[in-house]
Amino acid sequence: MNKRITVIKGDGIGPEIIDEAIKVLDAAADKYHHHFTYNYIDAGGCAIDKFGTSLPDASLAACLDCDSVLLGAVGGPKWDQVDPAIRPEKALLKIRKEMGLFSNLRPAKVFDVLAAASPLKPEIVAQGIDLLIVRELIGGVYFGERETKEINNELKATDIMSYSEHEIERVGRVAFETARKRRHHVTSVDKANVLDTSRLWRKVMHRLAEEYPDVTYTDMLVDNTAMQLVKNPSQFDVVVTENMFGDILSDEASMITGSIGLIPSSSLGVGSRGMYEPIHGSAPDIAGMNIANPIGTILSAAMMLKYSFEMEAESQAIEDAVNAVLNEGYRTADIYTEGKIKLTCSAMGDKIVSKL
Ligand code: NAI
Ligand code: MG
Repeated sequence: MNKRITVIKGDGIGPEIIDEAIKVLDAAADKYHHHFTYNYIDAGGCAIDKFGTSLPDASLAACLDCDSVLLGAVGGPKWDQVDPAIRPEKALLKIRKEMGLFSNLRPAKVFDVLAAASPLKPEIVAQGIDLLIVRELIGGVYFGERETKEINNELKATDIMSYSEHEIERVGRVAFETARKRRHHVTSVDKANVLDTSRLWRKVMHRLAEEYPDVTYTDMLVDNTAMQLVKNPSQFDVVVTENMFGDILSDEASMITGSIGLIPSSSLGVGSRGMYEPIHGSAPDIAGMNIANPIGTILSAAMMLKYSFEMEAESQAIEDAVNAVLNEGYRTADIYTEGKIKLTCSAMGDKIVSKL
């Protein structure tokens, strides 16, 4: 198959980790006789430096005209003082919105060989942690009406959370469909004891659950979910929730795995095109040193093959290669422990390619 991939290296460690993911994609293409072409575009801080805006029109156009987008990371202290309207992360919000990417899928999995890296007790980790958070991405309070105004000599700020049935249903469907490819269990997270948006959320999810009798369904309140994630994470398969709850819970879930450098993510809308990126940021503290962990980006590329290109075997082959390399004791600095073999970012990429 021919696939056109728009690539945003971005800032900080972005270029280093993307180079390794491209190596792995090329190796997978070779092995399975596909042809991937890459269109490299500027977005984020580097685009501000070159063009005075974090998302030039041509970059957005390239995201809308491709089979999928692969992103490193954007931002860094260099651009902290720029006009909020053109900040690096504005580019990502705009791309997600324009591409209609309403769901964000974030797996949190503890690799057996890295179990000791989890901050949870060994007996909890031993039960197995392999969950996927499906977060609604372009609705809710982050996209609601907002204002700050002066009333009676003090400032008052308001952010409005709203959801319509179709916004809930489309992300709910992603969760149920994804659960069918996993362990057939959906936990829907809300705050239905307090919020109207959550009561509507629950109503729509219950309607959907009837359409998926093969998927087990559970409701859970968000505060309880925060506790259950550290107390008994093995109970979760697919967790679906609204934008802000998902933002917080997915960061919590990533922490229980022990390394931020290992976790991929995908953002999907209608149709197969998505945006794929590691969950971490641009890590300015280690940029340019060739020590970043490229695995989160490489697994993001693997997710692209699975979810956007229907290349299940190819995706699995990349995951297997990553597992094999970790099993043999190879580590980048962030996950290194005594007795293991320390690799640079590029050497880790090469090792994974050699396993493919
Ligand atoms: P960060 O994820 O960039 O870094 C947090 C810590 O984790 C740092 O110590 C870093 O060295 C380490 N780390 C992150 N990724 C790593 C990797 N692949 N290998 C080894 N170590 C890794 O988060 P931080 O410091 O809060 O943000 C830095 C910049 O990144 C900020 O400008 C922020 O806005 C931006 N950012 C961008 C995101 C994106 O492009 N999607 C997401 C999150 C933050
Ligand atoms: Mg977050």
